[in-house]
Amino acid sequence: MQIIRTISEIRAVLDEQRAAGNSVGFVPTMGYLHDGHVSLIRASVEANARTVVSVFVNPLQFAEGEDLEDYPRDLDADVAHCHGAGADFVFAPSVEEMYPSPVDTVVSCPGVAAPLEGEHRPSHFAGVATVVAKLFSIVGPCRAYFGAKDWQQVAVVTRMAADLSMPVEVVPCPIVRESDGLAMSSRNVYLTAEERAQAPLLRRALDAGRSAVADGERDPAAVEAAMGDVLAGASLGTVDYAAAVPAHSLVADGSLAGEVRLLVAVKFSKARLIDNDGCVAD
Ligand code: PAF
Repeated sequence: MQIIRTISEIRAVLDEQRAAGNSVGFVPTMGYLHDGHVSLIRASVEANARTVVSVFVNPLQFAEGEDLEDYPRDLDADVAHCHGAGADFVFAPSVEEMYPSPVDTVVSCPGVAAPLEGEHRPSHFAGVATVVAKLFSIVGPCRAYFGAKDWQQVAVVTRMAADLSMPVEVVPCPIVRESDGLAMSSRNVYLTAEERAQAPLLRRALDAGRSAVADGERDPAAVEAAMGDVLAGASLGTVDYAAAVPAHSLVADGSLAGEVRLLVAVKFSKARLIDNDGCVAD
């Protein structure tokens, strides 16, 4: 496995791979890898001749006052995870390499990015879409793998790739959870012991929402209330949202029908946790 720091070098090695007829799969990450990331790398290794993992904490997607400086980093451990999961290349550029001058070109999807996370982190998805577009242009993958925990991020990247006719298939992969149901996230390390004990309530809230839909509830407000009741037990956190929305538009549109996404976000003292699950209202 090779660790590559510059755009010119990763382009050169991947051009060689493509010229030799090897397909390239891509797993973009911000590092501090956990089993969720490992599952994405394994999915890529299975489907592609070569797999590239990027490790880059992207300043563009952090707002003023968010955790850019504190974001957990451990490149040696990340490299070990990538190697163990069968990746071929780790692309770990510096901020200067990625953004040698202030960025003037921004990719945004103001529709799909607007609700939910967009209401709480208004500049976040433009930062994500811009760096992912840039990484796609550098890596040129035929497939790119994203965790479904960041459901709205997957929706934004999928829409961006479709709207800009990018020759890449965006592949969403299932959420990987701790044994008590907490969705894996690099930011879980921020939880205090007391908050960690309350964190599985997000998963339980989604279960309550799913049960309500399975029991025939079609009023989004009632499903959201069922999730909110469970989240009320997370006394150390503040609920940013508990939403039951159409899975693709993410915007409530009358009674629930067809594919539904349940999404929750809770802000603890330092960690802000998100989670989601799907169900069908037929
Ligand atoms: O999901 C993440 O880790 C990031 O948002 C991503 C997709 C790597 C872009 O920086």
